[in-house]
Amino acid sequence: MAKKLKATCQSPANIAFIKYWGKKNEKLRIPQNNSISMNLSNIYTITTVEFSEDYPKDSFELRNEPVSEKEKKRVFEHLDRIRKKAGIAYKARVVSINNFPKSTGLSSSSSGFSALTLAACLAAGLNLSKREMSKLTRQASGSACRSIADGFVEWQAGNNDKTSYAYSLFSSDYWKIYDVVVIVSKEKKQVSSTRGHALAKTSPFLKKRLEKMEKKIKDLKNHFKNRDFSAFGELSEKEALNMHAVMITSSPSLLYWTTGTLNLMKLIQQWRKKGLEVYFTINTGQDIHILTLEKNLKRLTRKLKSLKFVKKIIVNKPTLGTREIKKHLF
Ligand code: DP6
Repeated sequence: MAKKLKATCQSPANIAFIKYWGKKNEKLRIPQNNSISMNLSNIYTITTVEFSEDYPKDSFELRNEPVSEKEKKRVFEHLDRIRKKAGIAYKARVVSINNFPKSTGLSSSSSGFSALTLAACLAAGLNLSKREMSKLTRQASGSACRSIADGFVEWQAGNNDKTSYAYSLFSSDYWKIYDVVVIVSKEKKQVSSTRGHALAKTSPFLKKRLEKMEKKIKDLKNHFKNRDFSAFGELSEKEALNMHAVMITSSPSLLYWTTGTLNLMKLIQQWRKKGLEVYFTINTGQDIHILTLEKNLKRLTRKLKSLKFVKKIIVNKPTLGTREIKKHLF
């Protein structure tokens, strides 16, 4: 009987506290700086990949959402990388499902490309270490390489394909930080992250940002070591604004925020003044991630639910990285 070249994986999106913005090498996705993130327990992608001689060409279907030709091409190019590594020529059928809307800044590429990489590698019989898996994933989408490892993760920028990969700094049970994702609009973002990265170098502030990066990373790691939530939250919020300063001052300018985003940022800073310890971070999109501790969750969610412009909230804890699951999507 022919061997079944099929596997299914589940992978979390991740939120970066120290952001990846700008690349030293666009093609290989070598970032300008190290970044540090946490895997999110309730925002994930499930992907099934099957290679077979019966498939005349590659196909990719995302359940519940349309996929553009450009997005399909990115998936097929990644399959080519994996086929080359595994020494197989079969075409593949890929089916994915996200439990959240894509292209709104919730990092669908991080969960999507990490799930695709592991599922395709397992289906092709490629048994790679987590480090190798992270390098391979990075070539499809940078932030996705951080979703491969467990819990809290650092992506070492490196200088080339061999030295740029992510690894776990702390396991998911090290610190119970919550990330409450607040969807303020279901609008799709106008400029993709990939295009945005390429514009980073047009900002006069990118150089300044990178000069301070080493110290920032050292400080964040110390706050983790001491489990100092206030220092951690302050640093994360400042870092998100720092990255957005680069985006806003790029040519053309990238302004991802909507009025809902800005309203919520201001409210978060006010709530904090009144003793509710919450901080925000935000990626390329309008949705906000609120960082907090368990003791503040009830009060925070009550406040969020009373806001008219809040469409949905998703409460996340730290979680494991990409993993195989037994139930296939087809
Ligand atoms: C703002 O990983 O989506 O979310 O490598 O081109 O796929 P590509 O970019 P992507 O960029 C993510 C940028 C960010 C910050 C971060 O997650 O670190």
